[in-house]
Amino acid sequence: MKTKALYSGSFDPLTMGHMNIICRAAKLYDELTIGVISNPAKEAMFSLEEREDMLKAALKDLKNVKVDHFSGLLADYVNRKGFDVVVRGLRATTDFEYEIQMAQMNARLFNESVETVFLMTDPQYSFLSSSMIKEVYSLGGCIDGLVPDEILKRMVR
Ligand code: COA
Repeated sequence: MKTKALYSGSFDPLTMGHMNIICRAAKLYDELTIGVISNPAKEAMFSLEEREDMLKAALKDLKNVKVDHFSGLLADYVNRKGFDVVVRGLRATTDFEYEIQMAQMNARLFNESVETVFLMTDPQYSFLSSSMIKEVYSLGGCIDGLVPDEILKRMVR
């Protein structure tokens, strides 16, 4: 049976840290879906549609990866679509508190067999966040190598 995994987030924008998790998860699971969400707590630079388009362009060479979007509870989306695994990246110990809370709450909401699996973020990207990329870029700083080329092109545009 195929193992279907989900990696979700706001991806505003997608960074090389996310890319690293996506490439590794794509090797571990038969199918990986990137679930883009509009997080009402965050002011977005790109619309949900733009982010989905950018992800599709940046991930076009990964044959077992597809891009989708959802709203509402992650667990509802996971149960509805029949995912087996939810992948999360851990950048530093500071992520752990938030992630364990979320994983434990989701465990109550998921169908029985769904697992949250954590991958350690590559240390070269452990300081990265989408907000930091937006701040540095908007103040004229160089973000070469921190976002995929496809994303940088669209940010420039
Ligand atoms: N490399 C680089 N940056 C990373 C990263 C990595 N490996 N992993 C995370 N980040 C960054 C993200 O870019 C994000 O940056 P930002 O805060 O500047 O936007 C930050 O770390 C936090 O990431 P994440 O926790 O994945 O936040 P998110 O907004 O991208 O996604 C959801 C959060 C979608 C997973 C979560 O809000 C959710 O499940 N929402 C649905 C509602 C729900 O079910 N709520 C109940 C949960 S129990």
